[in-house]
Parts: sequence; C-alpha cells; structure tokens
Amino acid sequence: MCGIVGYVGFPNQKDVKEILLSGLEKLEYRGYDSAGIAIYNNGVKVFKDKGRVANLRKIVDNYIPSTLGIGHTRWATHGVPNSINSHPHQSSSGRFTLVHNGVIENEVELRNKYLQDYEFISDTDTEVVVALIETFVEAEEPVDVAIRHVMGLIEGSYALTIIDDQSPATLYAAKSKSPLLIGLGDGFNMVGSDAMSIINYTNQFIELHDEEFIVLTPEDVCIYSILGVKIDRPYYTETLDAADTEKGIYPFYMLKEIDEQPYAIRRIVAKYFTDTGFNINPNIVETLKNTDRIYIVAAGTSMNAGFVGKQLFETISNIPTEVHIASEFVYNTPIISSNPLFIFLSQSGETADSRAVLVKIKSLGYKSLTITNVKSSTLSREADYTLLLHAGVEIAVASTKAYTSQIAVMAILASDQANLDPIGLKKDLALIANVIESITDNKLMYKELADEYLTKRNCFYIGRHIDYYVAIEAALKLKEISYIQTEGFAAGELKHGTIALIEEDTPVIAVISQENINLNTRSNIKEVKSRGAKVIVISLKSISSAKDQIVIDDVNPILSPLVTIVPTQLLAYYAALGRGLDIDKPRNLAKSVTVE
Ligand code: G6P
Repeated sequence: MCGIVGYVGFPNQKDVKEILLSGLEKLEYRGYDSAGIAIYNNGVKVFKDKGRVANLRKIVDNYIPSTLGIGHTRWATHGVPNSINSHPHQSSSGRFTLVHNGVIENEVELRNKYLQDYEFISDTDTEVVVALIETFVEAEEPVDVAIRHVMGLIEGSYALTIIDDQSPATLYAAKSKSPLLIGLGDGFNMVGSDAMSIINYTNQFIELHDEEFIVLTPEDVCIYSILGVKIDRPYYTETLDAADTEKGIYPFYMLKEIDEQPYAIRRIVAKYFTDTGFNINPNIVETLKNTDRIYIVAAGTSMNAGFVGKQLFETISNIPTEVHIASEFVYNTPIISSNPLFIFLSQSGETADSRAVLVKIKSLGYKSLTITNVKSSTLSREADYTLLLHAGVEIAVASTKAYTSQIAVMAILASDQANLDPIGLKKDLALIANVIESITDNKLMYKELADEYLTKRNCFYIGRHIDYYVAIEAALKLKEISYIQTEGFAAGELKHGTIALIEEDTPVIAVISQENINLNTRSNIKEVKSRGAKVIVISLKSISSAKDQIVIDDVNPILSPLVTIVPTQLLAYYAALGRGLDIDKPRNLAKSVTVE
C-alpha cells in the first residue's frame, strides 16, 4: 500500500532528495505501482511517474539543494497508475503540494459541495484534499485551520503530508486510520509510514493517533487534535537495527526470511519462557482463563496461521475458537459468546480490515489481544494487550517467518493455559528450530522439485486435519509469488468436485504429518495419481513412505505446521525464481494493506 516520507531541516544539513528516495526504497516492500517526490527549492519541484523508485531516480534532477520535501509510493485505488495520478498532487495555483495514503470515501460529496468549479487534473480522491485546502485558504482561513477543517470533512482514511510553498521551513501532516510516525532529528524532523523509512536518520520516534494534525519545523514538532488543542507526547527509542532491513547476501528478502525462521523461534523461546516456566503477561493469562470462546480475526497469511491457532487452542487448552476473515466480520458479525477474547493476528499490526473489527468490538466492550511483529503498530496500541512476535522485520510481501512465529506464540499461550510442562514445549521448539535448519540447508532439492513439478498453470495442495490448514497457506504462498493458480484442499473433499480439474501432469502436493490421517490422505493421493496427477508428498519421518520426496524429521505432531510449511515456502520461492519474477514484490499485492 502507499508509503509516505517527509523531511524538513536546516539548510545544508542533509541531501533531501536522497533522504526521500532512499526512504521510499525502504517502503517499496509495502507494494506500489507509482512513485513521486516534491522538493522545495525556490518553489516546489515535483517528479513522479508510474513504476519503481529506480525509475523515479532516473527522472529526478541530479542536484537539488533543499530543506523540505515529501515522497510517496502509490498503490492505485482511484485512477490507473500513470504519471498524472501519481502523488504528489498540487493545488491549482501550485501553492500546496500533498501526498496521501488512504481512501477518501466521500470524495464525490466533497467535490459536489465545495469544488464544483475546480478543475481537476487527476482521477484521484487525493486531489480533492489539496483542492479543499487551497479553497479554504483562499477563503481566508489560516493554513493550519484549513487543514484541520478538511480533516473534519473527510470520511475514510488518510495519512497526509503537505507543503505550503509560502512556508519553506514547515512540513504539515495529518493522520487518521492510515499509519504515520514522526522521527526526531538534530536540526531536522521527519515523518514516515513506518520506522524503517526513517531509521537510517534517527531512532527517536513519536507515535501519532487518529485525527491528529502535526506541524514540523527543523527544530520543533507540534501535535494538535483536530480541534487545535496541543498534545504532548513523549518520544520513544526504536530498537530496530538499520542492518535488519538489508538483504545482505540474499538475492531476495523472502529467502532471507525463510532462513531466519529458526532464529525467530529461538528468540520467541528466549522471550516467552523463564528458566522454569512461561513468561506471559499475567493479565493476558487471567483474561484467557475467564474466556469462554476465542475469536481470531485476521487476513491473508495471518488468517491461515489463525486456523492452526484454532487447532492449538482447542486441542491443547480446550478453549472453543473461531477464525474470522477480518473484512467479513464487521459487516457480517457472528453471534458472540458471553465472555469472548478477540485475538488479532497481524504481522504488520496495520491491516485496515482487522482494525475495523477492533474498533467495532471495542465499542461493544469486548477484550482484545493483538499478536503482531510491530511494536508500536495501530493494532498493538489499540488492543487491550499485545504479544510480540520478535521475528525481526519482515519485508517480502509473501509472509514466512511471521506465520511460523504467530503459530509458535499461540502454541506457548495455549500450553500455558493448559498448564503443560514448559520445559517440554521449550524442547519441542528447540528441536523444531533445528529441523527447520535441516530443511533450509537443502535448498537445491527444492529448486529441483520446483523445476520438475511446478511447470503447469495450476497446482493443488491437499492435507487433512492440521495439514489442511498448512495446505491453505502453502497454496497462498505459491499463487501469490509464482502466479500459478493454486488451491489448498481438505484431501477428502477433492473428490466432491475439484478432482474434475486434475489432468495429465497436474501437480498435487500432499502434506502428511498426523498418524491418524496418514492412510486416508494416501488414498486421496492414489485417486489423483490415477487421474494423471504428478504428486509430491511432504511427510514426517515416522509416517513416511519410501517414495515420499520430502521427508522431515519428527517433531511434536500438533506443532508440525512449523516445519511442514517450510518446504512449501521454498517450493513457492523456487517456482517464482524459475519464472524470473520479482519475488519480494509480486504484482498487485501490498505488504501492509491499510485500506479496507
Ligand atoms: C497482505 C499481505 C499478506 C498478509 C496480509 C495480512 O495481504 O500481502 O502477506 O498476510 O496482508 O497482513 P498482516 O500484516 O495483518 O498480517
């Protein structure tokens, strides 16, 4: 989704153009189709086009001394990706220049009510905002009043960063629902969509809340409510290491992040266990004890981790658990039990669909726990409790280490509730980290399997029991980065319709980790094989068969998704690599989906 970076500083402090471009590069992982910057230099210069930041670099003037600038990566919602619809957008006089992340839901009403005579250039909802600011300023409102006025009119979501060419030492910003952070510097200040876009320049941040208006100068940061009341908020120091955001020796972040899974699990063990017990916030433990039903709300890969979580909470700690698609829940709310706990699973902590549910269930007075990888994210700040994944920054759009980390954290939470032996679980997780390493050490085999089997336009993953949930996530991974049409099925269900799609050489990948379904899934494999399918079997050693291509050392079967998913991540990676695709930034997808 869209990314924003903005800078204001004293003269001769820093190369503003480079700060903006490198900040946008750090935001590339979020997904985008256009990029642009505006730089103040005796007037505002705008450079923008569809395509990558690398493309933008080519069209930006070489040397622009400046003290003020804003940058944007756009993920198109209103209007096709082209140079005109790219941000920044300018008001008709050119006085105001603005970038926006979010969606203005009432843009048509605003156009009709206030901007009937305004000549719009682009198809974007964003241009309405810059047009309104100029209109109100022309009607004699001071700039800060005009911006807050516009904030009050907008329905939808926005993170805005605004330049007024009559105030070259001031950067304006505003936020509601879409993410935005302040970064504090010495002789400069910045805003960015996330900490990574700013971390090379400062590690001191101030979080922003909805409907806040911000005025930044080189030496000052003022936060105001939408009504203009000043707000004091302390800064915090971000521990993110700038090196964490680099690819290092890896060709793609996704491969790096697949390889990081053992470390992530070991870090989770270090954080969530003491020498002799579990180390979980006692308030969370108590809340869960009094809960009659867990509602896991999530999207994408996090939702797939949620299905495994359901299995863990129900099997290990006997708590009934439902998993809900975040985007469905708000508008199609199920019957809720009398003492629920809502668990929001989200790598980014920013997914707008999940956030809409959090807002709703809070208004109904229910308790919430966010399990996320990003400490100061919106879902973390707004839920009653947070458990962090400690997985390290995840940059590739296709989520890998966040998925396994979410499962590991839920396993610990479920085991604590069931008063299981912490030492036993600790050992299970330590073994799992080693087993993942033995899988990732064997990359060539996965490349060869992908080259041999994943050559068709479609593919099926099948599994039963907990393997079915792995099949769903494995299918998502393969389709999102290789564009092979892949579905994950309950192995027994295939024969009720989808088996009609199996033809000569259709790849079918079966996951088998549970003894009680081993033979059943193997029968389903025979069914598809006899219709021409080319089958890969991923199994745990103790229930493997001689011809299984991928045999994984045994782990505690209830935790098997932590290991069985890893071969499927590698198969997806190599299938995409073989097709020469941009693995970290698959087409049309965004890492952090901040619009509903
Ligand atoms: C996007 C990403 C997925 C991710 C999903 C949920 O669709 O492309 O990789 O699983 O959002 O994101 P979250 O940050 O809430 O886990």
